[in-house]
Amino acid sequence: MPEPAPSLATLLVADDDPAVRQSLERALTREGYAVVLAPDGQAALERLQAGGVDLVLSDLKMPGLTGLELLREAKAVAPDVDVILLTAFGTVEEAVRAMKDGATDFLTKPFQRAQLTKVVRQALERRDLIAQNRALQKRLDDLLRQGNMIGASPAFRRLMTLVQQVADSSATVLIQGESGTGKELVARAIHERSGRREGPFIAVNCAALPETLLESELFGYEKGAFTGAAGRKEGRFELADGGTLFLDEIADLSLVTQPKILRVLQEGEFERVGGTKSLRVDVRIVTATNQDLATQVRDKRFREDLFYRLNVITIQVPPLRDRHEDVPLLAQHFLRVYAAKNNRQLDGFTDEALGCLEAYSWPGNVRELENVVERAVVLARGLRVDASDLPDAVRERPVMLLRGGPAAPEGAGAVPEGVFQVRVGTPLAEVEARLLEETLRLNHGNKTLTAKMLGIDPKTVFRKLKQGEADDPAPGETPAPR
Ligand SMILES: Nc1ncnc2c1ncn2[C@@H]1O[C@H](COP(=O)(O)OP(=O)(O)OP(=O)(O)O)[C@@H](O)[C@H]1O
Ligand SMILES: [Mg+2]
Repeated sequence: MPEPAPSLATLLVADDDPAVRQSLERALTREGYAVVLAPDGQAALERLQAGGVDLVLSDLKMPGLTGLELLREAKAVAPDVDVILLTAFGTVEEAVRAMKDGATDFLTKPFQRAQLTKVVRQALERRDLIAQNRALQKRLDDLLRQGNMIGASPAFRRLMTLVQQVADSSATVLIQGESGTGKELVARAIHERSGRREGPFIAVNCAALPETLLESELFGYEKGAFTGAAGRKEGRFELADGGTLFLDEIADLSLVTQPKILRVLQEGEFERVGGTKSLRVDVRIVTATNQDLATQVRDKRFREDLFYRLNVITIQVPPLRDRHEDVPLLAQHFLRVYAAKNNRQLDGFTDEALGCLEAYSWPGNVRELENVVERAVVLARGLRVDASDLPDAVRERPVMLLRGGPAAPEGAGAVPEGVFQVRVGTPLAEVEARLLEETLRLNHGNKTLTAKMLGIDPKTVFRKLKQGEADDPAPGETPAPR
């Protein structure tokens, strides 16, 4: 039975010989294609311009527009449509010329029907693949590049969905997350997706300045407000008018400054330091902290009323260890960035290096990963970053030893990815099986990589796995006789 055509494609056949047109039409229709006919190049071109054609089969020698001319014109009006040229006088030079000008294939008459259908099928399949590839590439680009943020893990996608949802409101947003997770990028992403994107994005680090300086930074000051205030200065609130004000490290705001911020949020008003005139601005406030603000409130270090004002919407940026799929994507991204910066030609990471990056727990999150990759780019000697270019901490795969013997209760608390716990006194065979299982999981089931990491022969991995299966039969199965 013939394979079905890759899609119900429309083929345009251009040939000045009616007998050839007819036989091609018959052969191609039988394959399930829709066929339209053109007696010369000009007619073919007009039909092509009308649209809906997937593939052109054209004779090379035709009166008026020749096949080669048609090919060139076709590429101009419909660059995605493939052209296969047919000729009775095929010469190598002509073929070369045609392929150079963008012909997909070349058939020399007389040809077998099987030859014809094969060439057509291949051309259409290639076309489908290219289209699919483009669509996938676009989806991937969208996924990877959410604004300027990289990631594709479910946790990252949830984060970006939330960013999208809150962007359009003017609600105050509190961004929480560990250090280096990308809180500032999230704040920028919110601004860039909001109706305020044409307005300014002004960031203030509340931890970087002493109290009095911070106030004059935020609210500005009038001439003579304090010694050294030679002229009037606009504060960040004014500069951010019509845009977004990002207050970073908000937990470090002193108890003296807190009520002043609260007043702006509640009344939309403030005065410059040393000034009496009330100013009004239209500013959206986004704040961030790596501390737990609710705890700060409980400890009376942060005003409860301000907390509720800031915390209208909370965005929790997940730590990198909770979105492991993002590690290789981010690593590749930083590799490209730093290779370009350092003028280095680097193709990527060795499997071993990538395994280490994926296994590490990244307490410093994305910032730590960025620093590790930057360092590796500088150190790398080969075309790819190798495990030896990574810091010791990233290369090590610690095994946690639990004291207390086999009867001790399970250790509480999360175990970082790539680490597993072994209780002192556990039989070696069990440790080995567990180690094998965990390493295999880390390498997504890749046995060769697993063997490499464990420093054993791949055959040994296969053998041990087989042995494991035999020792541990699936329910309902009887173990194989030994
Ligand atoms: N998803 C991401 N894609 C690309 N780069 C990222 C991503 N997340 C973070 N980064 C990069 O990681 C670094 C740290 O990010 P950022 O400064 O936003 O973190 P943070 O959460 O504000 O950290 P901190 O709490 O220490 O202030 C920056 O260089 C940032 O560009
Ligand atoms: Mg930050």
